[in-house]
Amino acid sequence: MPLFQTIQFNETTKILIWEITESLEELLSKVVLKEKTQKRLNGMKSQMHQRAFLSVRMLIQEMGFTDKDLHYDEFGKPYFDCHNYISITHSYHFAAIIISHETVGIDMELQREKIQKIADKFTDYECNYLEPKITEEYIKKLTVIWGAKEAIFKIRNEKGISFKDHIRVEDFSLEKKQTESSLHFDDLVKDFDVHYEEIKSDNFEGTFTLVYAFEK
Ligand SMILES: CC(C)(COP(=O)(O)OP(=O)(O)OC[C@H]1O[C@@H](n2cnc3c(N)ncnc32)[C@H](O)[C@@H]1OP(=O)(O)O)[C@@H](O)C(=O)NCCC(=O)NCCS
Repeated sequence: MPLFQTIQFNETTKILIWEITESLEELLSKVVLKEKTQKRLNGMKSQMHQRAFLSVRMLIQEMGFTDKDLHYDEFGKPYFDCHNYISITHSYHFAAIIISHETVGIDMELQREKIQKIADKFTDYECNYLEPKITEEYIKKLTVIWGAKEAIFKIRNEKGISFKDHIRVEDFSLEKKQTESSLHFDDLVKDFDVHYEEIKSDNFEGTFTLVYAFEK
C-alpha cells in the first residue's frame, strides 16, 4: 500500500507517511532520480534502506516535488531550494516526511522495551516526571522523548548537541499529543513545540511513535 497517511497539520505544514510494501524494482520504475541520488542508492548495503530511500522520493512526488528539488547539506540535512522546509525519517517499513513553511523536524520510532536500557543516555531533566515503574507508559514516553530530541536535532543540526545535557522535554500526558521542549546550547535557549502520535499498521506487529517539532 503506498501512501499510508496524510496529516494536514496547519495551512503550510503537511506530514506524509508511506508504508513500504513495494519491491525495489517497483519503486525504481516510479521515480526519476538525479545522478547523485542514484549513486547514493547504489552505495546502500540494505535493500530495505534502498526501498525506504525511494519511498521518500515517492512522498515528495506526492507533494509535487521531484528528486531534483531535494538537496542535502554537508551534514546530511535535506533542504529544498524554495521556501519550504523538509525533514525526513524512515523506520522499518515506514518512511515519512514533513514539509512546512516553518522550521520543522520529524522522527518515527518503533516502541521497544530495550529503550529502557538506554534511558539514562538521553534523559536527565525528564527524570523529574518519568515513572519507570509504569512500564508500558514509561516505554511510550521514552519513545516520545527520544523522537522529540531527534526531531530537534534535525532542525538545529549543530555539532556537539547532547540529547541528555542540552535538550529538555517538558512533562506531558500521552493523550494530549503535544508538549514543549527547549534546546540549551552555545549560550542560547531555543524553544520548540512538539507533537506526537501513535502509528499502527495491520502488516506489522508493534506500534510506532511519530514525533514532529516546530522551532518557535
Ligand atoms: C542524523 C540523525 C538525526 C538521523 O536520525 P535516525 O533516527 O538515525 O534516522 P531517521 O531515519 O529518523 O532519519 C534519517 C534522515 O535524517 C536526515 N538527516 C540526516 N542527517 C541530518 C542532519 N544532520 N540534520 C538534519 N537531518 C538529517 C536525512 O534526511 C536522513 O534520511 P535520508 O538521508 O535518507 O534522506 C541521527 O542519526 C543522529 O545523528 N542523531 C544525533 C546524534 C545523537 O546525539 N544521538 C544519540 C545521543 S544518546
